[in-house]
Amino acid sequence: MTPHNHAKQGDYAEAVLLPGDPLRAKWIAETFFENPKLVNSVRNCLGYTGTWKGKPISVQASGMGQPSLSIYVHELINTYGAKTLIRVGTCGGLNAKVKVRDVILVQAASTDSAIVKGRFGAFNFAPIADFGLLRSAADKADAKGLKFHAGNMLSSDIFYHVDGFAGYDKLPDHGVIGVEMEAAALYTLAARFGVKALTICTMTDCLITHEEISADARQTSLKDMVELALDVAVEA
Ligand code: HPA
Repeated sequence: MTPHNHAKQGDYAEAVLLPGDPLRAKWIAETFFENPKLVNSVRNCLGYTGTWKGKPISVQASGMGQPSLSIYVHELINTYGAKTLIRVGTCGGLNAKVKVRDVILVQAASTDSAIVKGRFGAFNFAPIADFGLLRSAADKADAKGLKFHAGNMLSSDIFYHVDGFAGYDKLPDHGVIGVEMEAAALYTLAARFGVKALTICTMTDCLITHEEISADARQTSLKDMVELALDVAVEA
């Protein structure tokens, strides 16, 4: 038990999927898990455990942003023994070649977050995905015929940048392909505690072309991404 989680030790599997949205955690558990069991509902930040293709798996909502994700991930690792953490989220696009519905495997995460920057003094730490998970996700996406991009994501603490896209134009100039709000903290915590992490995002709104995903397409794309993440998670 923790202040944010009333699950008991042993209630979570070693592999945990991390959507931001609690209702997406519920949807993942109820749609994909065999025998889903609710293990946490503190603050309605829902967590479930079940099996996927017969293997133990959990899902825990992370909430939005790096501070919220950091609380759940810190506790999943240090209280509940999680060893493989895969964020499944959405992101904005910063590269016109990346189309809505495309899947992004987040190889590295640039950030403006004090959670990461504040820790390393004069150094810029580079938060990166676990290579084994990244390779497994790329191989499995290929095998499923799922179009994906692998690259550098911006994990920002700010959704409403006052300067709009101009605020981050240097990043796409250096190959950053999308923006979300959690991956850099996830990778930093995984590195700190010696566990494996990956972030997989579906691009839902392109900040350059202003293309947006339709509600129907959003659900289908999320299904492909979640199945990919589940396959990677249970084999890790
Ligand atoms: N910015 C940050 N996070 C996001 C976005 C965005 O445009 N789209 C989906 N998640």
